[in-house]
Amino acid sequence: MADIDGTKQEKKDKEYFTHVPQEAPGFFLKGSHQYDWGMKNRLSKVFNPKNGRTIMLAFDHGYFQGPTTGLERVDQTILPLEPYCDCLMLTRGIQRSVIPASTQKAIALRASGGTSMVSPMEEWEGEVGEGESKRAFKLQRPGFEPLSNESLACSIEEAIRLNASVLAVQVFIGSAYERQSLKNLTDLVDHANRYGIAVMGVVAVGRAMARNAQYFRLATRIMAELGAHIVKCYHTDEDFETITSCCPVPIVIAGGKKRPELDALKMAYDACEQGASGVDMGRNIFQSDAPVAMMKAVRGVVHEGLKPGEAFQLYQDLKAGAAS
Ligand code: 5RP
Repeated sequence: MADIDGTKQEKKDKEYFTHVPQEAPGFFLKGSHQYDWGMKNRLSKVFNPKNGRTIMLAFDHGYFQGPTTGLERVDQTILPLEPYCDCLMLTRGIQRSVIPASTQKAIALRASGGTSMVSPMEEWEGEVGEGESKRAFKLQRPGFEPLSNESLACSIEEAIRLNASVLAVQVFIGSAYERQSLKNLTDLVDHANRYGIAVMGVVAVGRAMARNAQYFRLATRIMAELGAHIVKCYHTDEDFETITSCCPVPIVIAGGKKRPELDALKMAYDACEQGASGVDMGRNIFQSDAPVAMMKAVRGVVHEGLKPGEAFQLYQDLKAGAAS
């Protein structure tokens, strides 16, 4: 019998044990203690073994939206941020063309793609009725998201050549291409497990998909069950701790659209307090008025125990210092 999360009855019966940490005997990272040496070593480059957290700097947006605001010249805007993150999340094109091979940062390589912001919608047009009641209609397939029609876009040999620690694959639960994106995930996990490379399943949100805890519990858990070693999703205003609690592998949060700096710092802080293993943040850093200051403030929250207000003060001081 299907167990549909979130119905009144189910909500009453579910127990997430949000105050009981999941054990990982002998290793610092949730769900990762039974992996082989190489996988653990790669994860230790991404997540700081001292606190189990990471700051991934995400600037892979160009793989489907081209020169995103703030990423028109990655050499100018992202390289100054590189010293302050733990891991660079990027495409192979940018890695080879812009990122110095001498970088000491871990690499999270975008491994899915094949669609763009202008991929055509699937539509039907026609007419209904007779005579004066005749009307034209235009329909879009429910749940159809053209962006979700992705394939794997990087071979495992290429990932090894590029020394990736993590491979990122988008998963579109609830879209017309759900099955295909889950197959991308499981194929990638099969390839990557052979060489001890981690796979990060990225929860994609589309118009047909709600950004709430119920949806993210479903999506993150499905990806973990299917073998993702890390899961990336959005923070939610309510019940985020239930998402991290019932996902057996580390969750990192995406930043999402640019918001005021203090709000972004609060979100990062709350997410970590509620069980996230760090952030995989892009626009809220590189679209900030003072990206290096914001990067350092995010670092303060994730790694240095700063409260959001303290981190925001740091951001303002650094911004003022840079301007003077
Ligand atoms: C693209 C991604 C991005 O890496 C992700 O959205 C993170 O960036 P941002 O913080 O700007 O949301 O996965 O699909």
